[in-house]
Amino acid sequence: MKIKNICCIGAGYVGGPTMAVIAQKCPDVKVTVVDLNEARIAAWNDEDVAKLPVYEPGLDEVVAEARGRNLFFSTEVDKAIDEADMIFISVNTPTKMYGAGKGMAADLKYIELCARQIARVAKNDKIVVEKSTLPVRTAEALKSILDNTGNGVNFHILSNPEFLAEGTAVQDLHNPDRVLIGGENEVAIQSLVDIYATWVPRERVLTTNVWSSELSKLTANAFLAQRVSSINAISELCEKTGADVNEVARAIGMDSRIGPKFLKSSVGFGGSCFQKDILNLVYIAKSYGLNEVADYWEQVVIMNNHQKSRFAKNIVKTLYNTVSGKKITMLGWAFKKDTNDTRESAAIDVAKDLIAEEAKISIYDPKVETSQIKMDLGSSFEYITVESDSYEACQGAHAIAVLTEWDEFKEYDWQKIYDSMLKPAFVFDGRNILDKQKMKEIGFVYTAVGSSNE
Ligand code: UDX
Ligand code: ADP
Repeated sequence: MKIKNICCIGAGYVGGPTMAVIAQKCPDVKVTVVDLNEARIAAWNDEDVAKLPVYEPGLDEVVAEARGRNLFFSTEVDKAIDEADMIFISVNTPTKMYGAGKGMAADLKYIELCARQIARVAKNDKIVVEKSTLPVRTAEALKSILDNTGNGVNFHILSNPEFLAEGTAVQDLHNPDRVLIGGENEVAIQSLVDIYATWVPRERVLTTNVWSSELSKLTANAFLAQRVSSINAISELCEKTGADVNEVARAIGMDSRIGPKFLKSSVGFGGSCFQKDILNLVYIAKSYGLNEVADYWEQVVIMNNHQKSRFAKNIVKTLYNTVSGKKITMLGWAFKKDTNDTRESAAIDVAKDLIAEEAKISIYDPKVETSQIKMDLGSSFEYITVESDSYEACQGAHAIAVLTEWDEFKEYDWQKIYDSMLKPAFVFDGRNILDKQKMKEIGFVYTAVGSSNE
């Protein structure tokens, strides 16, 4: 079965870039991305591709190539569902903030709403693809809603989790390590394999049963987050013992069984996936009575929270146990470089801890909008200022904290920044990106995660 018409519900960080690349690579397939959020769709349709709602290196070019040809962004959800042979569900699945599983389980209300809408609108057979990360066995719930509320048409459910990382989304989509497709119906599976096989080598397209596919996504994120928490746990030990976490990471990473990637010690992982997916895994394990399994994975999140909180505590301690009234500049607000996404960013927690200590926070990030920082901080926003110029942000500060590893921070004229700060001038490098030797020569009191500041 050849797919001619794809609809994707949800024009966010996953749906937008993924569909843009599918449209780019399959010019004979019409791809329509729909969302309830009118402002978001308007931004995807903005003539000026610099204004796309998602910042990803290279995405502007992909959108410019395909948009209007076979890539469309629209708020007409019903129409797009009706026309499509294949529907991707790419809506958000945040951690549930109420009722049973509060703070742990995934909130599936947006998924369920989509399923009901698809069931109501569909007049012919559809392949429904889960793209959002979902708890294991969600496909079963989806199928039940579709079959019980539908108009008697057939629905085939596939799980096709997205492994792209933000900041490298286009690269990851163009050249994925693997594409995973879980399903039961061979014809449906093959039709999605055919889409990806247009540009992904066939041996990298894996097919499994639905449950393996759903669980693989949670497991991949849990393993990745665990590596970050593992190296962060060692970073604290390094600070006490005089070992250097970068040296340790390099030494262990050369063991081919461990490998060098994802061993960068930091102020803590953020992003919309890691914490949510682990908590989800913990909840699922608990719901099967697997308490040891649940406790094992929960520790990854506990360690991450500890890493964020000890970073803020260390700033207060180093600044003579008080930051009250002191200007502290935070460089970086996004959860990692090359994205404007701030979900679960460590910067948010660090800022809140410092605001609680009555610090005067000044924030600079090259891509995050002030309105986003305002949303992230809520009522605490009144205690901070956002600067559009980094040198301005650092002027007169007691201390600078590096929260995101933006490349431009490495290129700054640090002597000029030093000259404009109060003395002693402190730098807390939460990403280990600055040159320790050079910073010390300039005169900074420089502290990096994972090494003692002797
Ligand atoms: C992650 C997964 O990598 C991706 O496969 C999945 O589809 C979604 O979740 P993402 O959250 O976009 O992607 O970014 P990722 O590069 O994994 O980084 C997550 C967090 O870990 C960031 O805050 C990052 O700064 C931090 N991190 C990552 C470290 O602190 N150290 C590292 O060595 C790697
Ligand atoms: P992700 O990182 O998973 O892509 P986002 O929050 O960036 O998550 O994007 C999810 C998008 O899904 C949002 O833009 C939201 O408006 C949209 N959405 C949620 N529910 C629906 C729905 N029922 N119909 C259409 N769009 C929806």
